[in-house]
Amino acid sequence: MTSILILNGPNLNLLGTRQPEVYGSTTLADIEAMCRAKAQELNIALAFDQENSEGALLDHIHAARGVHDGIILNAGAYTHTSVALMDAISSVALPVVELHLSNIHAREEFRHNSYISKVAVGVICGFGAAGYPLAMEALAGHLAPNE
Ligand code: DQA
Repeated sequence: MTSILILNGPNLNLLGTRQPEVYGSTTLADIEAMCRAKAQELNIALAFDQENSEGALLDHIHAARGVHDGIILNAGAYTHTSVALMDAISSVALPVVELHLSNIHAREEFRHNSYISKVAVGVICGFGAAGYPLAMEALAGHLAPNE
């Protein structure tokens, strides 16, 4: 069975109360429930994690090799700073869909650069929590293009 990892970075544990005008009022637990329902619909296995530290995110990416077929990554602010996350993705050679709740290109200039985009198969941003199931469909389609 196809297995994917959805990995969430710093401050995303605060979704629901964190700047709801930017990120919406859906909590990360709500998003996980949406993703689990979507995984059943797509008939894929799902792991869902959140970490605030860069090292812990790196460990999850390393551990995904041989366990998961692809990763959906909302790296939060590390998107814009982390060469280490970019290198980890290249190192494990798993397809990654980059995800953001907000449209990072319509926000501050410093959010326009993404190190993740340089190694991602594609990017979904700007659709709030709805982006998560969209990213799952995109990754499942990428992994099984003829289904
Ligand atoms: C984010 C966008 C990032 O710029 C920001 O630092 C986040 C969340 C998003 O989902 O919109 O923490 O990744």
